[in-house]
Amino acid sequence: MAESDDRYCFIVEWYDAFAALVRRYQFLYYSKDKSVEMVDIKNHRMFLKRTKVDDIGLEDLYIGSTINLFSRQLTFVDYGDDFTKNRLTMKKEKTLGMIKPDAVSKMGSILDLIYASGMKITKLKMCHLNRNEAFEFYQEHQGKPFLDNLLSYITSGPVIAFELMGEGTVGRWRELLGPTDSAVARKENPTSIRARFGKDKTMNACHGSDGVATAARELEFFFPSVGPSRKNTAKFDDCTCCIIKPHAVLGGKAGRIINAITEAGFEISMLQMFFMEKANAEEFYEVYKGVVQEYNAMVNELTSGPSIAMEIRAQNAPVAFREMVGPADPEIARHLRPRTLRALFGDDKVKNAVHCTDLPEDALLEVEYFFKILDR
Ligand code: CDP
Ligand code: MG
Repeated sequence: MAESDDRYCFIVEWYDAFAALVRRYQFLYYSKDKSVEMVDIKNHRMFLKRTKVDDIGLEDLYIGSTINLFSRQLTFVDYGDDFTKNRLTMKKEKTLGMIKPDAVSKMGSILDLIYASGMKITKLKMCHLNRNEAFEFYQEHQGKPFLDNLLSYITSGPVIAFELMGEGTVGRWRELLGPTDSAVARKENPTSIRARFGKDKTMNACHGSDGVATAARELEFFFPSVGPSRKNTAKFDDCTCCIIKPHAVLGGKAGRIINAITEAGFEISMLQMFFMEKANAEEFYEVYKGVVQEYNAMVNELTSGPSIAMEIRAQNAPVAFREMVGPADPEIARHLRPRTLRALFGDDKVKNAVHCTDLPEDALLEVEYFFKILDR
């Protein structure tokens, strides 16, 4: 079947650090030949003439997404015309999912089920709600007899909130969750998440928004579009830094990688999805510049899509975790250390599945880079 020759139009923003201002563009995407054209909205001037961009697909373009185009990080803030809006609103439906405290230890398996279902995770963050926050989140249940119990449960430990995107995602995620009561779920939908990981009708492993409007409110709660971001759970002690690289996230391997990490006894005390800007990736990899031949390719990989940064805790975390990650080159890892993360999940020296802190003295700095500096 021939590709249709559709033209999609979005409004994007780029923060011009040099001029210290946000520039807005009309972003046109031609799906047939995967080309992009950009027009500066303020002065109506052509900013980028139609150019082929093979690594950008329509699936990367949705409200709230971030892409790196010629070293500029563009944020998609709105649809630019009715055709695009009508065509994509349904396809790019969003919902809020949350792994509740009782199931955080199962995060790898749950994320893996999501990836296996074909749904796309576009935001992800571990948080620990206090009672006021939990009350705000569950405001629709004010006056219900189970509210007090529910608030105690949801504040009893960290939760992992995420945004899912795709056609019919609200309903698809509710279907994957199964009935509210885990016991009922085991009878009626035994392969569902609540059947497999839930305990009873309160501790039921995961949350899902019940409609598009609720989803919008709940997404704004966890991922506010203005103002400070919700506080993360990083502890900044006995820790090291691990990043699941974009190729592994996009390849649907994140759940399995996380599973391998927790099964080996490491604690994941914080995790969050980031879309790294080139300047940040360069800064983060600074120590490798001029030392490692792959430096530029590493920067490109880290900015090529979503990555998941984690604070990993254990005794002697930097050294112990490095052991588990294995040699930088997955080919070598497969020969010498076949059970390491890179042997199991890496493709080549650049797409080697995960980054981990090299030197123990850098571990805290790297964790702070993500969870104190980038997560502002
Ligand atoms: O989460 P879901 O939309 O399936 O159910 P809900 O009716 O919106 O209730 C929200 C949450 O409250 C549930 O997921 C349970 O954790 C909890 N709940 C409870 O503890 N006891 C009930 N009888 C009903 C719900
Ligand atoms: Mg509900």
